[in-house]
Amino acid sequence: MSASSLIPPPLIIAVDGPTASGKGTIARALAAHYGLPHLDTGLLYRAVGRQVALNGGNPDSPGDALAACAFPDALLADPELRSEASGGLASRVSVHPSVRATLFERQRAFATQGSGAVLDGRDIGTVIAPEACPKLFVTASVEARARRRFAEMQGQGRAVTLAEIEADLAERDLRDRTRAEAPLRAAEDAVTLDNSEMSRDESVAAAIRIVERVRVKD
Ligand code: C5P
Repeated sequence: MSASSLIPPPLIIAVDGPTASGKGTIARALAAHYGLPHLDTGLLYRAVGRQVALNGGNPDSPGDALAACAFPDALLADPELRSEASGGLASRVSVHPSVRATLFERQRAFATQGSGAVLDGRDIGTVIAPEACPKLFVTASVEARARRRFAEMQGQGRAVTLAEIEADLAERDLRDRTRAEAPLRAAEDAVTLDNSEMSRDESVAAAIRIVERVRVKD
């Protein structure tokens, strides 16, 4: 047996899914479980959206959005990025191909480092790391997702109504699924995890079972 055959292949786990599906929670839990670094790619798009606003630009303008890709890394720690407003701006800047191309290298480098990584987003399994194995597509009903996001926002003391959140989620889902460039969809070889009826812990346990099943098969 050669020395190289003893080195396990990198474990790249792609976790895609719509807004507030719990993919971030699952991705963080998987990263902790397997001792891998984790990248929340939505945060990059949120930072671009926030930077456009700070620049006084228009998120629907490809030029303004591209200029905002030069955001300082410190912006990634801004709590405002977690707001619904930043999520909406992120969804608008993310339709521009030039923005996606600019953020590609950073995500790709993260995915291909060392012994593996966990990335969550919309196009990890389809565009950023098509070689990822396993790929999870995490989803839940709009109602379940809106309820969770509402509880989260209330916990942060943000003044929003459940109806506003539902409308915002539906709008972002539509924009993410119908955009021309890297639309939100499950990769053909992704395993779908619908956690509408699951608690957080059940959902994480189900995700770990999926990863184990796929790893054993390979
Ligand atoms: O996941 P999160 O809600 O933080 O993402 C915010 C927005 O960023 C999404 O609605 C989507 O439009 C965009 N996004 C994307 N591709 C990714 C991650 C996020 O287009 N890989």
